[in-house]
Amino acid sequence: MIDLAKTIDLSTTYLGLKLKNPLVASSSPMCGDVANVRRMEDSGVAAVVLQSLFEEQIELESDELDRFMTEGSELSAEAVTHLPELTGRVMGPDAYLTHIVKCKQAVKVPIIASLNGTTRGGWLGYARQIQQAGADALELNIYHIAVDPDVTGEQVEKQYVDLVQSIKKEVTIPVAVKLGPYFSSMANMARKLDAAGADGLVLFNRFYQPDYDLENLEVVPNLILSNSHELLLRLHWIAVIYGSVKADLALTGGVHSAQDIVKSMMAGARVAMMTSALLKRGISYLDTLSTELLVWLGEHEYDSIRQMQGSMSRNAVPQPKAFERANYMKVLSSYAAR
Ligand SMILES: Cc1cc2nc3c(=O)[nH]c(=O)nc-3n(C[C@H](O)[C@H](O)[C@H](O)COP(=O)(O)O)c2cc1C
Repeated sequence: MIDLAKTIDLSTTYLGLKLKNPLVASSSPMCGDVANVRRMEDSGVAAVVLQSLFEEQIELESDELDRFMTEGSELSAEAVTHLPELTGRVMGPDAYLTHIVKCKQAVKVPIIASLNGTTRGGWLGYARQIQQAGADALELNIYHIAVDPDVTGEQVEKQYVDLVQSIKKEVTIPVAVKLGPYFSSMANMARKLDAAGADGLVLFNRFYQPDYDLENLEVVPNLILSNSHELLLRLHWIAVIYGSVKADLALTGGVHSAQDIVKSMMAGARVAMMTSALLKRGISYLDTLSTELLVWLGEHEYDSIRQMQGSMSRNAVPQPKAFERANYMKVLSSYAAR
C-alpha cells in the first residue's frame, strides 16, 4: 500500500486549492464540531465544507427564528430540516465565524465555509466576514424552491445569477455555487453561473421532500440518507457540462465507495463530496476510501487522478448519444426485450 501511495498521484485541484486527493466532506452539522473536522483530517480528507449558515439565521432575530422554525412557514425545506441541529449547537452568525477561526487553527486542510440562502439582502455581507475569519473558499448553496406560480423560470434563473454576482462583489476568495438539478436547461444554467463568476459548481443539492403523516394528517420533514443510486443523476450532468464551463465541478450526492469516486472523476468532477457515507459508516471510512481508491487505480494502471478526470465526459466517450434521447429509447426497448 505504501508503494502504491508513492507511485500513484491522487492529487487534484479545486477552486484554485491544491488538494492531496479528491475526498471532500460536504456541508453538514458533522462539520460543526472542531473535533470531527480534526478527525476528518486525520482520516485523510482533503478539504472540509462547513455546515451552512442560513440566510434566515442572519436576518431573523432569534425569537423570530424560533417561531418560524416551529411554524415552518417561510423557511426553506432544508432550513426546516437542519436548523434544529444547528440551533441546537448555538451556531449563530458570530459563533459561525468563531468556528471558522477554530477550524483553521485546528487543521491544515482547506476550510470551505457555506452560506445558504436565496434572496439578495444584508446577509450577503457575511460573506466578507467569512473571508476575514480565514475561510479558504465559500460555497453558496442556493436552495430555492419555486412555489409561486407567478414567477417564471427565467426570473428564477436571474435570481440565481444576481445572487452569484452580488456575492462575488463581497469577497476575493473563490466562490462555489451549490444548486439542484431542476432547471429546464441545466447545461445553459451552468454556463450562466460560470459567466456570473462562479469558480465552482457543486452538483447537486438533494431536495428533502416532505412526507405525509397519515395518522396525524401532518406534513413532516423527511431526511433519508443517500445511496449510490443517487450518483447517476450527478454523473450524467457533470459529464454533460464538463468542458463547457471554466468553473470546477464538484459532485455531491450518492458517493459511497471508491468506485463512486472514480466515476465522479471520470465524468469530470474535481472532487467527490460526502455526507451520508460518513454518517452511515463513520469518519474513519475516509481512510478506507483512500486506500481502496489507490488499489483501484493501481489495478487499472492509472498513475494519477488527473489522468482520468473528464475521460468519460460526454465529449470524450465514443457514444455521446448515450447522454441523449437515443439512449432513452434504447433503454426502454432493451427492457421490453428481456
Ligand atoms: C444531516 C444533513 C445535514 C446537511 N446540512 C447541509 C447544510 O447545512 N448545507 C448544505 O449545503 N448541505 C447540507 N447537507 C447536504 C449535504 O452536504 C450533501 O450535499 C447531500 O447530503 C448529498 O450528499 P451525500 O449523498 O453524500 O449525503 C446536509 C445533509 C445531511 C444528510
